[in-house]
Amino acid sequence: MGAAAYHARMTRVFSGVKPTGELHLGNYLGAFRQWSADQREFDCLFCVVDLHALTVEIDPAELRRKTFQTAVGFLAAGIEPDLSTLFVQSHVHEHAELSWIMECTVSYGELTRMTQFKDKSGSKTSVRAGLFTYPALMAADILLYDADRVPVGEDQRQHLEIARDIAIRFNNRYGETFVVPEVALPRFAARVMDLQHPENKMSKSEDSPQGTIDLLDSPDEIRHKIRRAVTDADGEMRFDPEGKPGLANLLQMMAAVTGRSVDDVVDGYEQYGPLKDDLADALDEVLRPVRERWELFSSDPGEIASMLDQGAEKAAGIASKTLARAKDAVGLLPRG
Ligand code: TRP
Repeated sequence: MGAAAYHARMTRVFSGVKPTGELHLGNYLGAFRQWSADQREFDCLFCVVDLHALTVEIDPAELRRKTFQTAVGFLAAGIEPDLSTLFVQSHVHEHAELSWIMECTVSYGELTRMTQFKDKSGSKTSVRAGLFTYPALMAADILLYDADRVPVGEDQRQHLEIARDIAIRFNNRYGETFVVPEVALPRFAARVMDLQHPENKMSKSEDSPQGTIDLLDSPDEIRHKIRRAVTDADGEMRFDPEGKPGLANLLQMMAAVTGRSVDDVVDGYEQYGPLKDDLADALDEVLRPVRERWELFSSDPGEIASMLDQGAEKAAGIASKTLARAKDAVGLLPRG
C-alpha cells in the first residue's frame, strides 16, 4: 500500500475557530491542546472561519487583524503546519459555493430551531440573514473535507447534528456524495469557567478581564488572577460544581493541566491557598512555551502568510473535488 493510499484511509479531523483574535486558557485546554495531540494521530485540517465572522457587525480592519492573530494562535498553541493543514476559510472559495448548495438542502424550519440563532438574534433589532444560514456554511466547511470527526464544544453540538442531517439527506436524494461526520465531542472536555463568575464559561478577556486567563498573560498576571479567583467561605476541600463552582473550576483546571484526576487533586490539598499557588505554577509551565512560540511567529508575518497560503492550497485540493462532486450530483451543468 502506497503512502497516498494509506493517507486516504486515515481518519480525517476538521475544526474551525472564529477569528476572535483573543485566545484564552479556555480555548487552549478545551480545544487547541487536544488538537495538537490529534494532529499526530489523524489527518487534521484547521480553519480560521472568517466568513462566519461576517454574520455579526465587525470592523473590516479588525476582522483582518483578528483572522491573522487567530492563525498565529493556532501555531503558538502547537498546531504544526507540517502535520496539519491550517488555512483561512475565505481563501478557499469552495466554502462559500458549497454553502449555497447546503442552504438549498437544509430547510427553513430546521434553521429556525437552532438555539444559537435564537440566542444571538433574540435581543437584536437587525439580524443578518447570514446569521440565520450560519449552520449551512458550517456544514459546507465540514463536508468539503470528508471529515470523519469534528471536535467542537458542547455548544456546537446542534450545528454538528444539522451538518450530519444535511449530509444524510443529500446522499439519499442525490446519491453518495458526502462522508457523514460523527458527532465527536472532545475525548476529555476541559470546560474552563470564568474565574470571577464560575457559572459562566471563560470567554474573551475584554468581557471579563480578571476572570479570563489570556494565553499571553505574564506569569505575574496568571498568579494574580488565580489568587483572586472566587471560591467560597467554608474552606472545605471537596469537588462540588453546584455548591462550590469556583473551587470546582480550580480543581478541574488543575486536573486538566497536570493530567491527574480531579479526585487525585482533591486528595492532594487541604487548603485553597496552596492549590492556587500550584495551579498558577502549573499554568505557567504549560503556557510559557505557547507564549514563546507566539513571539517567534508574530515577529514574522511574511512567514505566516506563506504558511496560510500553502494551507489554502492543500485545502483547495480536497475541497475542489468534493464541490465538483456535489455540483454534479445536483445537476449543475459542467463547463465545456
Ligand atoms: N461554529 C463554530 C463555533 O462557533 C465555528 C465553526 C465554523 C466550526 N465552521 C466549523 C467548527 C466547522 C467546526 C467545524 O465555534
